[in-house]
Amino acid sequence: MANRCQIIHVVVSVYLFYCVHGQVTTRGACPTVSVKTDFEIAKFLGLWYEIERFQSGVQSDLKCSTVTYWSNKDDVIGVTNNGTFTKNDKLTSTEGYAWIPDPKVPAKLKIKFKWWVPATNYWVLRTDYDTYSVVYSCNDYLFGFFKVESAWVLSRGRILNDDTLTDICNDLNDRGIDIGNFQPTDQTGCDDTLKYKPVD
Ligand SMILES: *[C@@H]1O[C@H](CO)[C@@H](O)[C@H](O)[C@H]1NC(C)=O
Repeated sequence: MANRCQIIHVVVSVYLFYCVHGQVTTRGACPTVSVKTDFEIAKFLGLWYEIERFQSGVQSDLKCSTVTYWSNKDDVIGVTNNGTFTKNDKLTSTEGYAWIPDPKVPAKLKIKFKWWVPATNYWVLRTDYDTYSVVYSCNDYLFGFFKVESAWVLSRGRILNDDTLTDICNDLNDRGIDIGNFQPTDQTGCDDTLKYKPVD
């Protein structure tokens, strides 16, 4: 049994870690949310543009952010996050991988980026595969004493139409997700050499 000081240390270090990564930490356990039914990972693969993301107060230092899901062997899905630092226009690219622990609920993925960071939930709440996607990550810590959340609204184009975005926000709000944590991602003045191409 860890003493109180050790527990506080874990809480503080986890909190600091997630803060700098633009996730949101709050008291209480994760909400129960439904995910996309009959999710088909094959149709979800390819390039997505980040339209909105959870951000804890500070403005994101990245613009033109994209995420590409690519198929891999052994049912592992490759995940490449790209972005451009606003301060110097330098590209940054991070690779991770995702998988589906329970094939009966294919929209509930797990994702892992760095070996020292435990895998986190990565759930596809909604998608029509060729226009928009909503990905939500919520993980309980200390048996639900606090949670760390992230969410992304993704689009197949650099712009998502306002009606779709409004509909997504209303829906997430109804599900008990705090949409006040969303901040828009700047997708202007980006390099467009790579474009999403629909799969045949
Ligand atoms: C992401 O960055 C990698 C490494 O620079 C590059 O190979 C890849 O084409 C980029 N993808 C997109 C969608 O920009």
